[in-house]
Amino acid sequence: MKLNQNKTPILDRLKLLANTPDAAFYAPGHKRGQGVSNKLINLMGNDVFKADLPELPELDNLFAPEGVILEAQQLAAETFGADFSYFLINGSTCGITAAILATCNPNDKIILPRNVHKSVISGLILSGAIPIFINPVYDSNWDICYGISPESLAHTLQKHPDSKAVMVVYPTYQGICCDLAKIAQITHQYNIPLLVDEAHGAHFLFHKNLPPSALSQGADLTVQSTHKTLGSLTQSSMLHIKSDRLPKNRLENALQLLQSTSPNYLLLASLDAARQQMAIAGPELMTKTLDLALQARERLKSLQGLPILELGDSQPSFQYLDLTRLTVDVRNLGLTGYQADEILHQKLGVTAELPMLNNLTFIISLGNIQADIDKLIEGFSTLMLDSNYPIYQGEINIYQGDNNCYKISPREAFFATKKTVAIENSIGCISGELICPYPPGIPVLMLGEIITSDAISYLQKVILQNCIITGCSDDSLTTIKIVNI
Ligand SMILES: Cc1ncc(COP(=O)(O)O)c(C=O)c1O
Repeated sequence: MKLNQNKTPILDRLKLLANTPDAAFYAPGHKRGQGVSNKLINLMGNDVFKADLPELPELDNLFAPEGVILEAQQLAAETFGADFSYFLINGSTCGITAAILATCNPNDKIILPRNVHKSVISGLILSGAIPIFINPVYDSNWDICYGISPESLAHTLQKHPDSKAVMVVYPTYQGICCDLAKIAQITHQYNIPLLVDEAHGAHFLFHKNLPPSALSQGADLTVQSTHKTLGSLTQSSMLHIKSDRLPKNRLENALQLLQSTSPNYLLLASLDAARQQMAIAGPELMTKTLDLALQARERLKSLQGLPILELGDSQPSFQYLDLTRLTVDVRNLGLTGYQADEILHQKLGVTAELPMLNNLTFIISLGNIQADIDKLIEGFSTLMLDSNYPIYQGEINIYQGDNNCYKISPREAFFATKKTVAIENSIGCISGELICPYPPGIPVLMLGEIITSDAISYLQKVILQNCIITGCSDDSLTTIKIVNI
C-alpha cells in the first residue's frame, strides 16, 4: 500500500467544520442543529446535526471531486484493489442501475440471472436494454438459488454474441458464490465487461477464509453495499472498477443522474471511516467475525434437527460459501421460516435478515458480539422446546419454460398503455407485469415478454400450492395486464 490508510479525509474535514462556529445561511434548514425538533435531538443527540453539512467549498463535490472526496475515493480504490472507486449515497441500488446505463444503449442485450435484484429491473427500464436471462441453479430442498453456471453463460453468449455486458449476483443473500473467475474468462472472450452485484460481499477481501472478492476474480465493475456487511451507515455503498472495457465518463454521468445533488456527508464520512477501519484492522475484525460465525454454526448443529446450509461438493454455481451467513432450515420445528422469524423477533428478541418459506438467513458481521450468538442459540433452543406445529411439506420446482421471448423491451412495456384480459386470453400477448412466484423467487414473466401457455400453467400450479405470487395486479391470476398494441 502506498497511501496512508490511517487517514480519513472526509471525516476529518467534517469534524473540523462541525466544530467551527459559523452563521449559516445555507441549507439544510436546521442550521447545524439549531432548528431541530427536541424529539429528534432526544433520539439522536446534538452533534450529529452539527456535522450534517452541505457541499461547502471545503467539503468537495461528489460529482466532480478534487479535494477530500477524491482523496477518500483514492484510498478506497487502493484498499479494495480497484482502479477507481465511487462513493454512493443511494445504496448499491443506484450503482447497479448506473452500471447498466453505462454499458447498454436502448435495445442492446445484457445477460443476467433471472432472479436479479429490483435495481437491475430499474436499470433495464431506464436504459431500454433487452435482458437475456439465464436461470440460476435452484436447490428445491433448501429453496434457494445458487449462481449461474459458467456452461450456461458460455451457451448463452454463443447464442447472443452481440450482448454488451454480463451481470451476475456474487454472493447471493445466503452467501453462495459461483465460479466467478470462469465466468469472467468466458465473458472476456467476447471483449465485454463483467458487472457484479456484490452487494453482500464488501467484507470478502479482508480474510483468506472468505470467498475471493469479485475484482480479484476478474470483474470489471463491482457494487458493494458497504452498509450491509461493514461499518458504514445505511444507504452508503461503493462502486469499484478495474477495467479498460468500461466507459468511465458515461458511468460517472449515470451516477450523477441517479443520485441526489445534495449528498449526505454523514453517509460519505461513514464510508471513509469504514474503509479506514477495514484497511487498518480488516483481517483482525474478520477473524473475530468468522470465529463467532463458526461458533454459532457448531452450537446450532449440536441442538440437532436444525440443518444449516453448508458448502457441499463444490460446483461451479456454488463454489464458495460465505461462512458469515447462517442459513438454518426450520422445517423440523414444524414451522415455516416466516413463523419462526415472527416468534424469534417478537418473543425471543432475535431478528434474522431474511425469512424464507423453509429457512432463515442470519448475517453475522463485525458488529456482532458473543452475547448476540448466545441469544441466537437460546432463541432456537426455546423454539425447539415449544414446537408442535404441522410440518410444512411443500416443494416446488423452478420454471423451465422458454425465457427470453421479447417483442418489446422492458422499458417500452413499462411506458406502454396496458389492458386487463382474462388469463386464458393472454397467451401470445406481451406481458405488462413482472410476475414472480415465491418460492422459488424467480420471475416467470417479465415486462415485455411474450406470455406462453407454459408460463400460465406453471403459475396456476404454484397458486394451487399456496405459493405467494408477487407483481400481479390480480392475486388470483384470473386476469392479467397485457401491453395494448
Ligand atoms: C442482491 C442485492 N443486490 C442489490 C441490493 C441493493 O442494495 P442497497 O440496499 O445497498 O441499495 C440488495 C439489497 O438488499 C441485494 O440484496
